[in-house]
Amino acid sequence: MFKQAKEAMAKAYAPYSQFQVGAVVRGGNGKLYAGCNVENAAYPQGQCAEASAIAHMIMDGERVIEEVCVIGTGDALVSPCGGCRQRIREFASDDVEINICGPEGVLKTVTLGELLPLSFGPENLVKSDNNG
Ligand code: THU
Repeated sequence: MFKQAKEAMAKAYAPYSQFQVGAVVRGGNGKLYAGCNVENAAYPQGQCAEASAIAHMIMDGERVIEEVCVIGTGDALVSPCGGCRQRIREFASDDVEINICGPEGVLKTVTLGELLPLSFGPENLVKSDNNG
């Protein structure tokens, strides 16, 4: 996973922040799906690496994330941003491990539940007989 994430990071399109990020998600089918950040001159239209990796997984017909790897550079841990924590949450359970990496390897492993406690997810929208 780490190797693919590092290769994805090298492909990032980040001319504005100069901050390249790579991500890989491992699907329930065991396959790896990579992504990188894709920035845009209209800044808010930029896309995070995690979103790109998840899109690849969905396009392949897989809807379960079993593990995540995110890689970036710099002194601070490149932990998934708030929006990406929620994006991962859509397809992952609380115990899914997220490996936060630097160029040399994994720096810290946390669970999705640690990154996004008390999260809102698809289960919240399942209709019961009681809520109309
Ligand atoms: N970025 C990601 O790709 N994933 C994250 O979880 C954090 C931030 C990207 C977005 C932007 O292109 C650059 O890093 C600087 O914020």
